[in-house]
Amino acid sequence: MTQITADETILSDWHVISPLSHLRTTPTDTMLLDRHITFGLDARDNPFACDVADRRALPVRARHGCLWTCLGTPAGDIPAIDEALEPDRRLLDCGVFTVRTSAPRIVENFLDMAHFPFVHTNILGAEPNTEVARYTIELRDGGKEVWATDCHFFQPQAALSATDGLDTEYLYRVAGPFVTLLYKTCPAQPGRFDVIALFVQPMTQECSRAHPVMFLIDDVSPQANLIEFQQTIFLQDRIILENQRPRRLPLSAGAEIPTVADRMSVAYRRWLRDRGVSYGTTA
Ligand SMILES: [Fe+2]
Repeated sequence: MTQITADETILSDWHVISPLSHLRTTPTDTMLLDRHITFGLDARDNPFACDVADRRALPVRARHGCLWTCLGTPAGDIPAIDEALEPDRRLLDCGVFTVRTSAPRIVENFLDMAHFPFVHTNILGAEPNTEVARYTIELRDGGKEVWATDCHFFQPQAALSATDGLDTEYLYRVAGPFVTLLYKTCPAQPGRFDVIALFVQPMTQECSRAHPVMFLIDDVSPQANLIEFQQTIFLQDRIILENQRPRRLPLSAGAEIPTVADRMSVAYRRWLRDRGVSYGTTA
């Protein structure tokens, strides 16, 4: 096998390379960790992925509406999403977004509430409700995951199904270096959470593809409108992300000045450092 520059943690991780709905019998080219790979459906309609230079078949899994692969020897399983199994949830893949920045920058932005009023104005936030209230950070599953719980934010349009402004509760979950999810108050059933996952495919250290997938409790809204709502949000984020410098996420303490609102970002950076992740960072 040709030399791969990624650190061992990232190399032995599962990464999403496509929504399952995009798979065709004509192979599609993409990149993963600086490697050219190709993927698609074989003659029996089973998904495959292949490292082009080495002509090597890669392991694949179809999970959470996406195709996953691993360039090294998989060290663990794909993170479970228990809610995805609930029969009344709709799985919606929201397409693929190429973003000229590192994978950890995209994850970090996803974990941040402070930008809601300024980037997603009058949707996920609005002035004067700009303050991020104190929330709790926990390591779970023996340190394999980082969670932020008890996060609250006032949102003018928390979801497509929201008919009014809503004090929205959030839980944020980092389930893998480039696998992150949020759980937020479901407007239709306030006792339950809508789940939005963001799977980030590190193409190179400074260019990525983001694969947002939603697991929603909403049997009213048309699928196209739900996807369009999420795409609007993500395109607003992309403008911010592509302007951040450096593109690689700084991991050294004090590289960027944290505030109370940034505690999850600080926890994510520390967690990456502790796991020896350097790909897409300045480490
Ligand atoms: Fe955002």
